[in-house]
Amino acid sequence: MIETIKTTPYTDQKMGTAGLRKKTKIAMQENYIENFLQSIFNTIPNLENKSFLVGGDGRFYNSVVIQKIIKIASANNVKKLLIAKDGLVSTPAGSHIILKNHLDGAFVLSASHNPGGIDGDFGIKYATSSGGQCQPDESKAIQEEALKIKEYKISNCQDIDLSKTRTTQCENTIIEIIDPYVDYIKLMESIFDFKKIKELLSSDFRFVFDAMNGVTGPYAKKMFEETLNAPKGTVINATPLEDFGGLHPDPNLIYAKHLVDLMYSESAPDFAAANDGDGDRNMILGKSFFVSPSDCLAILTDNYKLIPAYKNGIYGVAKSAATSMAVKKVADALNLGFYEVPTGWKYFINLMDSNRISFCGEESFGTGASHIREKDGIWATLFWLNIIAEKRQSIKDIALSHWKKYGRNYYLRNDFENIPQNVADKLMEDLENSLPSLINQNFSGYIVSDAYPFIYNDPVDKTSTKNGLVVHFTDGSRIVYRLSGTGTSGATLRTYIERYETNNLLEAPETMLEELSKVSRQISKVTELTGKAKPDIIT
Ligand code: G1P
Ligand code: ZN
Repeated sequence: MIETIKTTPYTDQKMGTAGLRKKTKIAMQENYIENFLQSIFNTIPNLENKSFLVGGDGRFYNSVVIQKIIKIASANNVKKLLIAKDGLVSTPAGSHIILKNHLDGAFVLSASHNPGGIDGDFGIKYATSSGGQCQPDESKAIQEEALKIKEYKISNCQDIDLSKTRTTQCENTIIEIIDPYVDYIKLMESIFDFKKIKELLSSDFRFVFDAMNGVTGPYAKKMFEETLNAPKGTVINATPLEDFGGLHPDPNLIYAKHLVDLMYSESAPDFAAANDGDGDRNMILGKSFFVSPSDCLAILTDNYKLIPAYKNGIYGVAKSAATSMAVKKVADALNLGFYEVPTGWKYFINLMDSNRISFCGEESFGTGASHIREKDGIWATLFWLNIIAEKRQSIKDIALSHWKKYGRNYYLRNDFENIPQNVADKLMEDLENSLPSLINQNFSGYIVSDAYPFIYNDPVDKTSTKNGLVVHFTDGSRIVYRLSGTGTSGATLRTYIERYETNNLLEAPETMLEELSKVSRQISKVTELTGKAKPDIIT
């Protein structure tokens, strides 16, 4: 039986950089999720012919929302739902499932790398048939629906048991519970040299994969331990937990400190990788060595010929404007197309669909390729393993020889968190207005050569997006400013700082960028406006 329930709009259902992200308790308000789902369905014509994937990263409230999706989709006469077994699917595997099965989209329940639990965050990433998250015009249409919603439809069919693969039904909607792992593993096998990686992992090479109690645990166990012969125990924090076991599932130097401490200790293994809650982000570490995400993209690109799927050539590469210029050096040397887009993986999709790029990345621990339309943490890990299997060099040596060849783009991101929204908006507005006057000014020896708002003109759909403010200096250094679009409380100012060096290759970024960080604060007036003398988080 289908019921129509009266409701009133919530005014905050606006998608950010990657889907709708809210404090869990906000998402648990009466009809909150129902309103949002109905708003999405209201924007999709001919639902009786449409099929979607449903799953999530295992965080608190996932299993409740999956049942809501089943009932609301069925009441809206959706043709078919593929539900990931146990409700678990990683963002990258979800993208592959959409593309392989020609689905019309997916609901991936995740707030990505944000903490989970009832006091943490909840989120919904809504993907379309592109395999990636919906485009800005689509999220705008959904928001408009959400602002005027009056009712939603819901079936009262029984909750569906997600623990076994099988096919059942709710109203006229076919519900297929699927294995979310098998096709993803086959996809990875079609890209990388599994035989070589297996040899490496069967040798005395020591590798740790940290799933941070997120969704990649079962993927990594099946991939590394069961398929590629890595010893049992290679995958740590391997069980998806509703609150990530208290971890903040963001693979960076701060939140994966336990892994960083291991890699900088006497008993460090040769190689470590960590993934975030939903498996799209990655962090790469060697013995006493950290590979910055911007360098990671550059190094992988430089080594593409070592990978079976890419050895005959790749299209171009792309990075977000905030990411360092390291990959541009490689693109220029290898004669590859190069693109710079706004922050957010959705901006890479058109470039991939039109065969302009093969690889892309963001400074925020995201690297990926056109095998899917999301960033992919396990793909990045396998890419490194494949390079190591070929080169038999340490991570540090691989990075050092890269910097000797191309120079090093020292890079840091400074985050000023929990700023009142009006203060943050004013800071950005004032800064934007001051840009023309910065040109030619000398800040402690750094002379501004150019300063402008970053505007991206998409070569495919011709849309134009403004995201962030860029300040260039005569020595090639850069600062980029933007406000985060994924937070759930207050505003976060992100300041991205970069300086290019060809000589001092093994210094600490904090040392090399100390002066420029000060300059960045001077230019933004962040201390005056927020009272914060230093960033809250430096990555
Ligand atoms: C952050 C990252 C961005 C990434 C997004 C989703 O967004 O900076 O690169 O695409 O998370 O993982 P932000 O909070 O900066 O808007
Ligand atoms: Zn993520």
